[in-house]
Amino acid sequence: MRVAAIVPAAGRGERLGHPVPKALLQIGGQSLVEHAVAGLIRAGVELVVVAAPADVIDEVRRLVPQATVVPGGSDRCASVRLALDAIPVDVDAVLVHDAARPFGSDDVVQRVVAALDSGAPAVIPVVPLVDTVKRVDGNGAVIETIDRATLRAVQTPQGFRRDVLAAAHANATATVTDDAALVEAMGIEVKTVDGDPRAFKVTTAWDLTVAEALWEWGRR
Ligand code: CTP
Ligand code: MG
Repeated sequence: MRVAAIVPAAGRGERLGHPVPKALLQIGGQSLVEHAVAGLIRAGVELVVVAAPADVIDEVRRLVPQATVVPGGSDRCASVRLALDAIPVDVDAVLVHDAARPFGSDDVVQRVVAALDSGAPAVIPVVPLVDTVKRVDGNGAVIETIDRATLRAVQTPQGFRRDVLAAAHANATATVTDDAALVEAMGIEVKTVDGDPRAFKVTTAWDLTVAEALWEWGRR
């Protein structure tokens, strides 16, 4: 099975609130996009396509010379679609992995690829929720408590048979924050495998602090 990966890295990181695009922020002297691409290559992925912010595309090309770098789109879905266009036709399976997840992907890649190899059309890594979860209304009043046992938080890399991911994006009517949602909408079963707490997404300034601490402690 020939496996390629797409790394959407074209976001600005608004929740982080840094003037530099999030994928270029550094941990331990390397940018988030470098960490993410290196993890995929260490795990044996043959080809990586990065969707980069158009204004810093030359910088990203310099940082990840092992990858093909294309300009991203206005939302994550568009960035994935543009990167998918750059994947050669002989690729059987495509992983989609956020540039904003610098660590922990190596083992997760192995589990996702193994499930694809056993015939699953779509595979996502998940972790259990630790907090109690409640639904609230617009005023912050609790409507209900949701049974945590049946809920999972979803990470990346998510893996897809190439034809399944292409069809999902061709049929997409809404913009979603994860590719598996598009596959679910087509009625195709999505399998889950164990994620890894280290594969958390750097979204806020706090997450960046945690990532820096993990790097310092060698716990990444
Ligand atoms: N992404 C992308 N193209 C976009 C928006 C997001 O490639 N137009 C990528 C981000 O670069 C990131 C991944 O999708 O690696 C997950 O998105 P998120 O964590 O939401 O990153 P941002 O969109 O950059 O952050 P924010 O939503 O806070 O602006
Ligand atoms: Mg975003």
